[in-house]
Amino acid sequence: MLRLPRRRLLTLGGAALIGTLPAPRIGNPFTLGVASGDPLPEGVLLWTRLAPKPLEPAGGLPPVGYPVEWQVAADERFTDVIRQGTTNAIPAYGHSVHVDVQGLRPGRDYFYRFRSRGHVSPVGRTRTAPAKTASPKAFRFAITSCQAYADGYYDAWRHLAAEEFDVVFFLGDYIYEGAITSAGGNRMDDTLRLPDTFQLETDTLDLYRMRYALYRTDPDLQAAHAAFPWVLTWDDHEVQDNYADDVSRFTTTPKNDFLVRRANAYRAYWENQPLRWPRQPAGPDMSLYRRFRFGDLAHAYVLDTRQYRTDQACGDNLRAGCDDRNDPGRTLLGAGQRDWLLDKLGRSEARWNILAQQIMMAECRYGGPANRLDMDKWDGYTVDRRRILQTAARKPGTVVISGDIHNNYAADLRVDFARPETPAVAVELVGTSITSGGDGKDTTPQLDMQRRWNPHLRLANGQRGYVRCELGRDTMRADYRVMSQVLRRGGTISTRASFVSERARPGLVTP
Ligand SMILES: [Fe+2]
Repeated sequence: MLRLPRRRLLTLGGAALIGTLPAPRIGNPFTLGVASGDPLPEGVLLWTRLAPKPLEPAGGLPPVGYPVEWQVAADERFTDVIRQGTTNAIPAYGHSVHVDVQGLRPGRDYFYRFRSRGHVSPVGRTRTAPAKTASPKAFRFAITSCQAYADGYYDAWRHLAAEEFDVVFFLGDYIYEGAITSAGGNRMDDTLRLPDTFQLETDTLDLYRMRYALYRTDPDLQAAHAAFPWVLTWDDHEVQDNYADDVSRFTTTPKNDFLVRRANAYRAYWENQPLRWPRQPAGPDMSLYRRFRFGDLAHAYVLDTRQYRTDQACGDNLRAGCDDRNDPGRTLLGAGQRDWLLDKLGRSEARWNILAQQIMMAECRYGGPANRLDMDKWDGYTVDRRRILQTAARKPGTVVISGDIHNNYAADLRVDFARPETPAVAVELVGTSITSGGDGKDTTPQLDMQRRWNPHLRLANGQRGYVRCELGRDTMRADYRVMSQVLRRGGTISTRASFVSERARPGLVTP
């Protein structure tokens, strides 16, 4: 049984305003599981959200706050409790809980749980980052993205949870904003009937909150959150497909209207992810780009390529002959984030530098007579790309990890892709989706064409899954883990392809 001190520690800003609360009986509020994220050497962020009726507005809770106790222990049975306290889940934050635990030891596993209203949450396991001065022999991480609920089951998460990772990177499209049928879309084994509200495209805060709740009810996704700390960034679907800064995909939407929607989406995102308090959005603005250090072995730069970008060139989508994409006035990262990245990357003394971001950085010609490029990707923002790759050229060990595109690619990155004879300056691992796009295929005529027209691509695969990556002191290894199926339950996982790259001599080769 959980034993916690009786005194209430009001650790959240504004929590003291709640006062003494009525205590209506509620069912188990821990239907959305637990999560941890953004690991530092001495601390980690713990998350949960109270929702006894997860598919109802406000999770079925009245507009009052609830005390939530938390514990962090060195062992799974909680005989050695290291830190504990009480916080409040309040309606202004969708009854979410964000506990910024500090005073932990670097590079250690910890276990955590919550208690509220007589209910105890599932137990999560997390891991702090190594000390800044440590020299770890290995850093293991997963590359994940794009988990459209309506497109399949989350067996990939179950397989991932059975592996061993220091961190799970999630690179965007945690939710999709479109309508979901009452039968749960293309999920084929369910007898589930969703409330009609899921047939509305998300735009209000309530609808975004409910969309996160739907996703988080999935036990396989919960298992993956409970197994490792996650480091997340968003892509477009957390707000709206292919939006750019304050520009909706629908050009008739006034900017102010779109910013109201973006504010709702960002707030629900922060509430539902293991992100620290200072990351909280202010209206339509939320600072998400940040750096993590894993001793001297790896630094990770988590980027946001949506909030600050210039609108897509030449009307977006696949375009040929679009010179506008090379306009030096265009930016994908925005000046502030770009300068921050170039400065940090340029001065990094880590063995490896990971750029954790949303969209494919390698040039990707679609082939055929038109040979188009995708204006939503780095191909539409070539000046920012060149500056980053020029910096990477002076900095051995740059690994770009990407999502978004629902395919696996592995690429050698060059400052000038038109000169394949020049040396690679970095490598890119593009991870496929967890479910988005349904079962997928190993290869398609389109993927074959991309391989032919882009000699720097070492792999193009259209199955679902994730990438398992391990950085050693001198060598990186990546395994592309693919699912047999996702439209039906019970998909199995296997390794479709593996690559290694030497830190001192970037370039992917098969082991
Ligand atoms: Fe996606």
